[in-house]
Amino acid sequence: MTNFSRIIGTGSYLPERILTNEELAGRVDTSHDWIVERTGIYERRIAAPDQTTCDMAEIAAQRAMETAGVGADDIDLIVLATCTPDRVFPSTACLLQERLGIQGGGAFDVTAACAGFIYAFATADNFIRAGAAKRALVVGAETMSRVIDWNDRGTCILFADGAGAVVLEQSDEPGVYSTHLHADGRYKDLLAVPGWVSPDYNDQPAPSPFMTMQGNEVFRVAVGSLGDVVLEALKANGLERSDVDWLIPHQANIRIIQAIARRLRLSMEQVVTTIETQGNTSAASVPLALDTAVRDGRVKPGELLLLEAFGGGFAWGSALVRF
Ligand code: UT7
Repeated sequence: MTNFSRIIGTGSYLPERILTNEELAGRVDTSHDWIVERTGIYERRIAAPDQTTCDMAEIAAQRAMETAGVGADDIDLIVLATCTPDRVFPSTACLLQERLGIQGGGAFDVTAACAGFIYAFATADNFIRAGAAKRALVVGAETMSRVIDWNDRGTCILFADGAGAVVLEQSDEPGVYSTHLHADGRYKDLLAVPGWVSPDYNDQPAPSPFMTMQGNEVFRVAVGSLGDVVLEALKANGLERSDVDWLIPHQANIRIIQAIARRLRLSMEQVVTTIETQGNTSAASVPLALDTAVRDGRVKPGELLLLEAFGGGFAWGSALVRF
């Protein structure tokens, strides 16, 4: 018998504080119109000063478990994607495990920046396929506001905070058809938070604790790589572009999302976008978009979803899922 995994519940959380483009224009040399035109973002959410990645992950996970109808005893694996963990260690997954009263199974973080959720999702799917887990909690959660240089107009207009989660369960039928992961470390310097744990820098100035990004280069590689990896997912399963019901993309820039929709020959009505009000929440963006579209009734059981994300590393990937 072949094991597959399928999504049995989704959940998400956004912090209350709304940060508008107008407010940012008061801090750095930018404007509401420039941000909307170049990124598609109107506003974004920022965590409260005392709110952490784990705090947001906890609420998103509870909501996903509630919709899945499962309790703490039913989860035997937690994979949490974040590049803004509460601590260097223990992992945020372990902190979350304790909060949720889950015991016994494995819990670990995955770091793949904005591609983190796809990496975590692929990891959990493969655990379940291998028979090593039955029911996994997969979370993407970020407090990007803590690694942003609020004086850098190239990054502070884009990034934001939030969390999303899914519960994956062992199933006789897909569910998840396939996942596709890629990375290219030669691009390590184009998008990074270089600082914090840095034993090799003794004779150099301390590296920046804030994000650095060469936006237009990242943009160029993202469009090419994401275009390829969504078509790779379809080809691997002998499916056509017309079979896709919904594209659930990473929310980095509306122009990147539109470019991928064009490669898939999808109308924007078949693309879930949350970037307008959520900005780029890194590893949280794909599960946030998925949960948004499930809860507002757009994504329905039985539909074919194409998930994709791209981020620092570079790391990128896709997942093809029958919901
Ligand atoms: O999620 C992880 C992956 N991240 C991404 O995918 C992000 C990808 N990159 C982007 O989304 C875009 O590159 C940005 C939104 C960051 C920038 O947009 P762009 O169209 O690529 O602009 P650019 O970097 O080529 O800069 C064009 C001009 C420059 O001015 P000059 O040199 O032409 O005078 C920038 O200094 O726009 C200027 N600029 C701004 N102007 C007003 C850059 N940021 C801003 C700003 N407001 N916030």
